[in-house]
Amino acid sequence: DIYGRDRRNSRGFNRHVENHLHPLLSTLRRWDSHQWHAGPVIGGQKREEGERKPAYAPFDQSQQVGTVYWANESLAREALDIASRGFPRWNETPVEERARCLERYADLMETHMEELMAICAREAGKTMQDGIDEVREALDFCRYYANQGRSRFAEAIKLPGPTGESNELYLEGRGVFVCISPWNFPLAIFTGQIMAALVSGNTVIAKPAEQTSLVAHRALELMLEAGFPGDVVQFLPGDGAKLGGALIPDQRVSGVAFTGSTYTARRINRMLAERDGPIVPLIAETGGQNAMIVDSSALPEQVIRDVVQSAFASAGQRCSALRVLYVQKEVADRMENLLAGTMQELSVGDPRLHSTDVGPVIDDEARQGLQKHLDDMERCGRAISRTPLPPIAQRGFFIPPSAYGINSIHDLEEEHFGPILHIVRYEAEKLDEVIDEINNAGYGLTLGIHSRSERTAAYIEQRVKVGNAYINRNQIGAVVGVQPFGGRGLSGTGPKAGGPHYLLRFATERSRTNNT
Ligand code: NAD
Ligand code: ALA
Repeated sequence: DIYGRDRRNSRGFNRHVENHLHPLLSTLRRWDSHQWHAGPVIGGQKREEGERKPAYAPFDQSQQVGTVYWANESLAREALDIASRGFPRWNETPVEERARCLERYADLMETHMEELMAICAREAGKTMQDGIDEVREALDFCRYYANQGRSRFAEAIKLPGPTGESNELYLEGRGVFVCISPWNFPLAIFTGQIMAALVSGNTVIAKPAEQTSLVAHRALELMLEAGFPGDVVQFLPGDGAKLGGALIPDQRVSGVAFTGSTYTARRINRMLAERDGPIVPLIAETGGQNAMIVDSSALPEQVIRDVVQSAFASAGQRCSALRVLYVQKEVADRMENLLAGTMQELSVGDPRLHSTDVGPVIDDEARQGLQKHLDDMERCGRAISRTPLPPIAQRGFFIPPSAYGINSIHDLEEEHFGPILHIVRYEAEKLDEVIDEINNAGYGLTLGIHSRSERTAAYIEQRVKVGNAYINRNQIGAVVGVQPFGGRGLSGTGPKAGGPHYLLRFATERSRTNNT
């Protein structure tokens, strides 16, 4: 089944059940002072060369988490040599064997779940719930793409033709794929891109985000343990612009899978356009300026729960996160009061604690940018609520979950990647203007709709141009194979990650006619 409807996602974990929670907490505690070390991995060999950088916890800058060797351009060229040489053999390896490597890697991640969660918490500031979701999503990508690979690549499609002629269409890998991932899903997106490329028969050069090389490196070790050959996946931590500049213009690169900012996607697109040689695909998943529209028929408690999750979970550091909440004027006072009260109850702090709802932002650059936006909002916006910060906030990079009234989505010039919500009040008869405003912002990732009127919800859903629309629920946390994820416009090229068409962009098609 190419839609994967006959498969199951990874097992859930209920943090609210004591005998689930306590063993997890005590295992996590064992990793509290562990130091991880990462560096380039080329041809299956760890290379301790290049500049060595310490990594510190974003919630407490006095806590070191490990060290990372950053790769330089000459290692990037070496990685390309090896990946190019490794391609023909891997592409000819039966897809069943490739798919089994993905599944073994998933099983290994499951066995190492607590360690991976611990690195996500200490290196990326992920809360416990985010850590669980991160590992589960990574596992789900592996198992889903393994099945997709089998359905798409195992057999050629037989096509009609005159007597004596056989016609077939089949898929194969393209060559070397460069996979560039962001820090906000340092295991799930890192894994998803690489597994899609590998199961399709490509070899990979993986470039993790600078901020989260430790968890990516641990994942890479597990890939090698799972049986992926050393010439099939190369790992290059380090500076994105430098390594991108060394890799992408090279004609041996046959495709790029990128997730990150719209700005970087454009840079990569330009590098690909300006080089000589083959024209290759860029799969770009980028930012969002995501809205939710709430009309007067919506259920207030449900709205507030979903708004708080959509805007503040993961400290707002999700491309899918809610940035602009449009509330119908008649119910706006009530919604804002409820929201303000709920925001006072959020617990901000050490992401390793079970009780923490909102952890830190990723680094000082992010904190400073968001703080500047808060200062601007204090001047130009209408303050609605701000969650108090605990004393630990002094030690790391924290931004208080905050909400401000603004006039329109167009008051925001860019995506503010943190826990800051903007609220616009609208008049029911101006719903079409709201829809135009959202569309004219140019992004197209997620949309939330809260309305008890099916007609209104359908009307909005059909007119707002987005990749993922959610009605009467939150708008984050797309599940692999259930809500294939990805946007349009400034939010990306598609195809959707975790969906049945994703692998097709990593493959090339061949048609074979045989006159027997
Ligand atoms: P970023 O664009 O700064 O970095 C992403 C990756 O690109 C990193 O690995 C970085 O090293 C690399 N990079 C930077 N410059 C490069 C260059 N010139 N050539 C090649 N690689 C380069 O983004 P970020 O700040 O790490 O991530 C946050 C952004 O990612 C947000 O905009 C968010 O919305 C977006 N995002 C989108 C999705 C999605 O599925 N649509 C998912 C997660 C994050
Ligand atoms: N796939 C992630 C989500 O849906 C970004 O929140």
